[in-house]
Amino acid sequence: MSERESAVRMEPLAMRHAPEVQRYVSDPAIPAMMDNIPQPYPPDGAADYIRSNMRRQTEGKVWTYAAMVGSDLVGVCSIRLEDEDVPVLGYWIGKPFWGRGYGSAAAKLGLKRFFSETDFRLVWSASHARNPASIRILEKCGFQRIEAEKSAFRSGQEPSVYFKLERDWFAAA
Ligand SMILES: CC(C)(COP(=O)(O)OP(=O)(O)OC[C@H]1O[C@@H](n2cnc3c(N)ncnc32)[C@H](O)[C@@H]1OP(=O)(O)O)[C@@H](O)C(=O)NCCC(=O)NCCS
Repeated sequence: MSERESAVRMEPLAMRHAPEVQRYVSDPAIPAMMDNIPQPYPPDGAADYIRSNMRRQTEGKVWTYAAMVGSDLVGVCSIRLEDEDVPVLGYWIGKPFWGRGYGSAAAKLGLKRFFSETDFRLVWSASHARNPASIRILEKCGFQRIEAEKSAFRSGQEPSVYFKLERDWFAAA
C-alpha cells in the first residue's frame, strides 16, 4: 500500500458518522455512479441509511465500514447480501478526497475484514462502464471480469461491467 493508502483505517459505520455521510453523499457525483443511492439525497438520508444498515448488520445481511483518516470519515465500503445471499461490494469516497488512494485502500481493507469475519468464498461487484477509477480499484483487489449474463445480480440501467472475486484471488492480489 502507498503511504496515503496506509493512512486509512476502517471502523463499523455508526450514527456518529451521519453528518459526514450526509455531506458527501449529497454531492451528485456519488449517486451518479451508485444505483442504490437516491438522487437528490433526502435531508435525513444518512441517518435513515445508517439506522437500517445497523439493523441489517445484526441480521448478518450487511457489513459496512467507515473509511477513516485520523478522526475524519473519507468514505464508506459496504458488502451486502443480495438475492440468494450473494455478497456484493460497493464503496464511495467523498469527492474532496478523490485521487489520493483512499478508494483503493477502503475496498481492500473492507474486503479484508469481510473475509476475516465471514466464511464467504466469493464476492461480486459491478461498475458503470464510464467509471475507470472504480474498475481499476476492483482489478487491484483481484476481481476478474465476467460476462453480464453470468452475473448473479444486475445493477441499474447504465451499461455496467461485472466482476467476481474469489477469496484466494484476493489473498494473492
Ligand atoms: C471510484 C472512487 C471510489 C475512486 O476513489 P479514489 O479515492 O479517487 O480512488 P484511488 O485514488 O484509490 O484511485 C483508484 C485507481 O483509479 C485510477 N484512476 C483514477 N481516475 C482514473 C481515470 N479517469 N482513468 C483510469 N484510471 C483512473 C487511479 O490512478 C488509481 O489507480 P492506481 O492506484 O493504479 O494509480 C470515487 O471516485 C467515488 O467514490 N466515486 C463515486 C462512487 C463510485 O463510483 N463507487 C464505485 C461503484 S461501487
